[in-house]
Amino acid sequence: MTLSIGYYFIFTVLLLTISTRPVDGHFFNWLWHKIEKVFNNEKVRTFSCGLSDYTQIIPSAIDQPRITGGISATEHSWPWVVNIINLRSLKSCGGTIVSHDTVITAAHCIVDDIDMIKVIAGAHNLFGRLNLFNYYSIASYIIHPDYVNCCDYDLAVIKMKKSFERSETINTICLPTNKNEQLKMNTPAITVGWGGKFHSGSLNSFGSFSLKQGLVNIKSADYCKQTYSTFNPIDELCATNLVDNVDAREGDSGGALMVKNQTDNRWYLYGVTSHGSNSETIKPGVYSSTINKLDFIDKYL
Ligand SMILES: *[C@@H]1O[C@H](CO)[C@@H](O)[C@H](O)[C@H]1NC(C)=O
Repeated sequence: MTLSIGYYFIFTVLLLTISTRPVDGHFFNWLWHKIEKVFNNEKVRTFSCGLSDYTQIIPSAIDQPRITGGISATEHSWPWVVNIINLRSLKSCGGTIVSHDTVITAAHCIVDDIDMIKVIAGAHNLFGRLNLFNYYSIASYIIHPDYVNCCDYDLAVIKMKKSFERSETINTICLPTNKNEQLKMNTPAITVGWGGKFHSGSLNSFGSFSLKQGLVNIKSADYCKQTYSTFNPIDELCATNLVDNVDAREGDSGGALMVKNQTDNRWYLYGVTSHGSNSETIKPGVYSSTINKLDFIDKYL
């Protein structure tokens, strides 16, 4: 009797664990990291930009059939991606960790009192975003001096009150170092966010349950100007996936546009989700480019 209850208990716990975790290959990845964590408990890790403990899902081709509007990311596979919430308006934005105490986001996301804005780091799904242990206070923010609402030079640097601690769920992304390394047309890039599926409205406050990612192609300035007459290639990038209409949505603002460097295999932050179609019509999304704003960003790192 006691034995069978014991077995039943173990079985239930196992089933619960498996069912609350992604099963499609990520479970053992996750389990391995949990075991590793127990054994490496004392080890203090240092930030190493653009690398993740968890393998990302990288679609091999832009025209591979996928779920319209992106797919769920592997848990914690983008450990520099943060959620920024405004406690007053309940508006949600994305952001990216670029140093132990610095986050980059869109300027239009954070025009408010610093006490009203919290950074949520190390979260993957809604439970993580509601977990107060993942909340970080900010000390100050610096809006790009050329910012015009909305959305020229739509970029801001956030300085945190306390440093982030490097862990399996928190790391930094790399910033491009060379201003001359502009992205070539059709470079594949990944954009991420918790933005809602809906165009606008209260249903979007919490956005999607888990972090979503989409594959897009960087477009030429001429192409971007055809859609947005005010497009400024010094300030902005535009990217799109015409095949399955991946685009950033409301709530995705401030999030990362990331490109993998095939030489060092690290991820680099090339853009910050700024504005775009925000609708079902196929239009490219516009990102605030980081490469021409490196002098501004570097001042505050
Ligand atoms: C990729 O990384 C290599 C090695 O760090 C570097 O030399 C190169 O400039 C990088 N390429 C781009 C496009 O950033």
